[in-house]
Amino acid sequence: MMLLKKEDLPKVDYQGMNIVHERELEIVNRLYAALKEGVGGEELERLLDAFIEDVVNHFSYEEDLMRKSRFFAYECHAGEHKRVLEELNELRNRWQETGNREELLNYLENTFKPWIVEHVLTMDTVTAQWLSRVMAGVFF
Ligand SMILES: [Fe+2]
Ligand SMILES: [Fe+2]
Repeated sequence: MMLLKKEDLPKVDYQGMNIVHERELEIVNRLYAALKEGVGGEELERLLDAFIEDVVNHFSYEEDLMRKSRFFAYECHAGEHKRVLEELNELRNRWQETGNREELLNYLENTFKPWIVEHVLTMDTVTAQWLSRVMAGVFF
């Protein structure tokens, strides 16, 4: 059972970002499958933490590239990352209080999945175009 297939996520013009996105899909799919299969307790907590940690790394990787390349819409893109991380932290806190698996499933299916597809298509796509031009020396 997969939340998102590789083909569901658009490719961007900067290969490092595609690699990071693919790894994130693997990690979120592992969490999703565990939820669907009824895995619980520490194992589930470990998978949830691994997912959130991967999102943190994914975002900071992009933010680092944006700063180094002086990306023009840094504030906008990084602000969106910050908003999602806050959402994930709230989700994790609520899950620790309630242990409600349906809420996690619901979040992954109806919030995270459409969000990441949209985000890759918009902010990540524009950022990757910028990075590939900077790397090609167009601006230096
Ligand atoms: Fe991304
Ligand atoms: Fe991003």
